Amino acid sequence: MREETARGLELARRRTLALTDFDDAELSRQHSPLMSPLVWDLAHVGQQEDLWLLRGGDARRDGVLPAEVDRLYDAFQFARPERVSLPLLSPAQAREFILGVRGRAFDLLEKADELFPFAMVEQHEQQHVETMFATHQLRDGTPLLGGGAPLPAGRAVPHDSVLVPAGPFVLGVDAGHEPSSLDNERPAHVVDLPAFRIGRVPVTNAEWQAFVDDDGYAESRWWSARGWRHRIEAELERPLFWSEDGSRRRFGIVEDIPPHEPVQHVCFFEAEAYAAWAGARLPTEQEWEKACAWDPDAGRRRRWPWGRSEVTPAVANLGGAALRPAPVGAYPAGASAYGVEHMIGDVWEWTSSDFQPWPGFSPMLYDTYSAPFFGGDFRVLRGGSWAVAPSAVRPSFRNWDLPIRRQIFTGARLAWDA
Ligand code: AVJ
Ligand code: FE
Repeated sequence: MREETARGLELARRRTLALTDFDDAELSRQHSPLMSPLVWDLAHVGQQEDLWLLRGGDARRDGVLPAEVDRLYDAFQFARPERVSLPLLSPAQAREFILGVRGRAFDLLEKADELFPFAMVEQHEQQHVETMFATHQLRDGTPLLGGGAPLPAGRAVPHDSVLVPAGPFVLGVDAGHEPSSLDNERPAHVVDLPAFRIGRVPVTNAEWQAFVDDDGYAESRWWSARGWRHRIEAELERPLFWSEDGSRRRFGIVEDIPPHEPVQHVCFFEAEAYAAWAGARLPTEQEWEKACAWDPDAGRRRRWPWGRSEVTPAVANLGGAALRPAPVGAYPAGASAYGVEHMIGDVWEWTSSDFQPWPGFSPMLYDTYSAPFFGGDFRVLRGGSWAVAPSAVRPSFRNWDLPIRRQIFTGARLAWDA
């Protein structure tokens, strides 16, 4: 367990360093007002590791950095568009800083009796790795990351829906069963849902193109009032990074839009409009989790949709190497008990749910991770994307973002009342 935690931290660090292995100008530039400069993320992962592991979460204690520098990496102090103008550490200073923190963290790990804070810090770093992928995707210029590793082929899977019969199931997890779960996933509790249907696979690019071709972006009837206002104001016409000519830009490479890949880079309002056009709706996060993790025959949750066995390239597209979602049908062995595919990995899936605590919520050591965001203007996203590490996603994992965001690796899955 301790070795596994150490390996997880090292893996996260390798990915952080790989995404920041570029010249200083590249790392210090603001590629988009939506994102921090990469050099901010680079030092921020170390600043958080210092705070949660070396200082036990007490920000009044002296950290490795002088207090006035440490502050620059507090996400609540400075918003993303401001960070480029701060007197940040240089890339070389940032690398030296995070290496020093890591050395002390490993010393503590050897004798720690509680491993959760280390798993939490590992997941935090992996979350910033995904954020850095989003920064790279927004960046203009010659490609830096290549085209990505090969993926399994898709198969002719029916784009139909599966029935999830009415009945109670266990939503969420407890630390005893899922020791790395974060505060907002807990506690496990019984929820009774009416029957519903859910898409066997996520919405594909070809399906989304049909919505575009059918003037879906021009007809207000498919959109919520707020969604339509945003659609006009932001001049949405197709997913982000798509061009009118049927190509898309992915990490600086222009290529044909692959028809059978799950669509990505759509915001909540677009996903909602697509669902209405398709005669469907988005799933609630409770429905999503039941379809993903509940085993109706056994009457209990599965660790993963496919069962207990660990993540392998045969069951899910995770870990970031592919740089894109896999074509639908690529993971028959990754199906849930109900037969739903692609639930873990590929694209985050928008749900219709606002981000709220589960009953009995109690904050973890990093007590401002979830709680300040409950009840805000956020929608819950589920399942993780191709950019997410296996250690940073679970069937119970809850991500959240504003309904207008689409620089993240988000797509959609449909649901229907049964
Ligand atoms: C869970 C992705 C919404 O990036 O805002 C990183 C993760 N929190 N550092 C975010 C996070 C603090 C968070 N999300
Ligand atoms: Fe952070």
